[in-house]
Amino acid sequence: MFTFAKVYLHGFSYFALTMCGIVGYLGGQQAYPILIKGLHRLEYRGYDSAGVSVINAQGQLNVYKSPGKVSVLEEKCSSQDISGTIGIAHTRWATHGEPNTVNAHPHLSESGDISLVHNGIIENYKTLRSELERRGMHFCGDTDTEVLVQLIENVKQKYDVPLADAVRMALNYVVGAYAIAVIEKSNPRSMVCARKGSPLVIGVGQQTGEFYVGSDATPIIEYTNRVVYLEDEEVAEMDADGSLRITSLKNVEKTPEMTTLEMSLDELEKGGYPHFMLKEIWEQPNALSVCMKGRVHSGLKDVFLSGVIDHRERFINARRIIICACGTSWHSALLGKYFMEEAVQIPVEVEYASEFRYRNPVIFPDDIVIAVSQSGETADTLAAIELAKEHGAFVYGICNVIGSSIARATNSGTYLHVGPEIGVASTKAFTGQVLTLCMLGLAIAKEKKSLSKEMYEMLVDEIQCIPEKMRWTLEHNKDIEQIARTFTYARNFIFLGRGYNYPVALEGALKLKEISYIHAEGYPAAEMKHGPIALVDEEMPVVFIATKRGNYEKIVSNIQEIKSRKGRIMSVVTEGDVTVRELSDYCFVIPDTRDCFVPMLAIIPLQLFSYYVAVAKGRNVDQPRNLAKSVTVE
Ligand code: M6R
Repeated sequence: MFTFAKVYLHGFSYFALTMCGIVGYLGGQQAYPILIKGLHRLEYRGYDSAGVSVINAQGQLNVYKSPGKVSVLEEKCSSQDISGTIGIAHTRWATHGEPNTVNAHPHLSESGDISLVHNGIIENYKTLRSELERRGMHFCGDTDTEVLVQLIENVKQKYDVPLADAVRMALNYVVGAYAIAVIEKSNPRSMVCARKGSPLVIGVGQQTGEFYVGSDATPIIEYTNRVVYLEDEEVAEMDADGSLRITSLKNVEKTPEMTTLEMSLDELEKGGYPHFMLKEIWEQPNALSVCMKGRVHSGLKDVFLSGVIDHRERFINARRIIICACGTSWHSALLGKYFMEEAVQIPVEVEYASEFRYRNPVIFPDDIVIAVSQSGETADTLAAIELAKEHGAFVYGICNVIGSSIARATNSGTYLHVGPEIGVASTKAFTGQVLTLCMLGLAIAKEKKSLSKEMYEMLVDEIQCIPEKMRWTLEHNKDIEQIARTFTYARNFIFLGRGYNYPVALEGALKLKEISYIHAEGYPAAEMKHGPIALVDEEMPVVFIATKRGNYEKIVSNIQEIKSRKGRIMSVVTEGDVTVRELSDYCFVIPDTRDCFVPMLAIIPLQLFSYYVAVAKGRNVDQPRNLAKSVTVE
């Protein structure tokens, strides 16, 4: 058909997706309000331009796009014809090409008949574009997506086939990743979607012939909980007569697999809080109770994780555990290592997924590779999983988002069940991950009999107290907001901890950096003397996580070292502490618990501190600059 050679995927570029958002609607209602609301719900993913296409009753296809926020697009549309019962919309996070109107989606084909939104990257777009230009087609912008819509039109015209056939044929020539929704002016009663490597969900509405499309379920849940998750290389054709046809790229028919969404609308709203981040911080006690439900059994003093029970032998015979993750999930992974090495007594390595995937690591077939990811869509973590699988390792996923790519790519796993996390700065997912890794450590320890019965039962008893102790922590640190206001001047921060509190220091520093834009370093407290202490003067705020157990005396000495250099000291201490309190300018207090569980409590005042500093500095807390909720580009 085409003269250029088909290029096959290799390596992991397959996972080089974008963080953009897709919404689509086809049915009896006006599409625009549903599309705009959906775009607002997707704002948490991070984006820098937005757009919408709607076909009106006269058969006109109207496309409106603009750089900036969805509200800017709304303003632009307020004086335009936005009528119509079929439409697609998009939020774009720029990777190639600046975030301007031309590059924003939806894109139009040259004839203006076809409009398309796309998440992902078409890797061979340059080759495709040259061929299409050779055939006389013209392009307005530089994006790979425009090439895709032109390719579909070219195939459609050349072979005189319906849109769905043209989409299938065109996608056979595409190398890369995509989730797409396509509409056509000349057929306003149907929509075509497809995916490969980038998620796409189809919601089946209450009325016959009503369909919703989303890059995740958040724009859909308000209208229906009956959804179909498209699989890779599947094409969906939705028609206003109510038919939903799913095929492979080779046009082999498949039976749509309907799933019921468990998410509720309340979980996607702020519920009276000024920001999602604050809501999510306060949700932690409940979220962690739900996370433990059916897994930690108080009467039996036992932990049950089906993901471990179903693969008991793999866990008993594992030579080693490697945990791969990014960002905050990497910090929880480090805590997982500390706990598992203590409880399970096998070596545990923690890897940045982005490093692991590119450095020829030694992976044995009897290794267990654990991928930790809130979104379940992080490109590097997905690639690390593929690498581990190639080496025959057993891959276990710890994710929050149900049905996410990582959840599907792993051999077994555990969902966090902490509810949707909308704030870009991870809070309840972090504590949920730490809890899940602790439960996992206990579940493996039970199989391997690596803990005494007394120790195992004592830990099971104590882990159940964590939600209540989190509640106590939230209630007893009401002065954080006021303390935070006194630090808005600071340009740097140092966070210090030892043992289990060292990853807490890393996470505390990351939280402050990402939402307040203040530079912060997390360090093992004893490492200060090896260099960073040179930074300390009366201007430097130093945050110690100095809880009662484990290395307490040592960290008291570290605090004294900072005090004698006039650093301003803030400490997270255990209730009843006197020594550290006397040495500190400010203290945040948590209840006593086992060392291994302290991080789930100690991080709470640091989350609140970062939040209030960012608010005092007037930052966009839920959508900090340059950040996206799911990092789906490598
Ligand atoms: O969805 P993931 O857990 O895989 O995401 C990993 C990181 O991108 C994420 O934790 C990021 O560091 C957050 N912004 C931290 O708050």
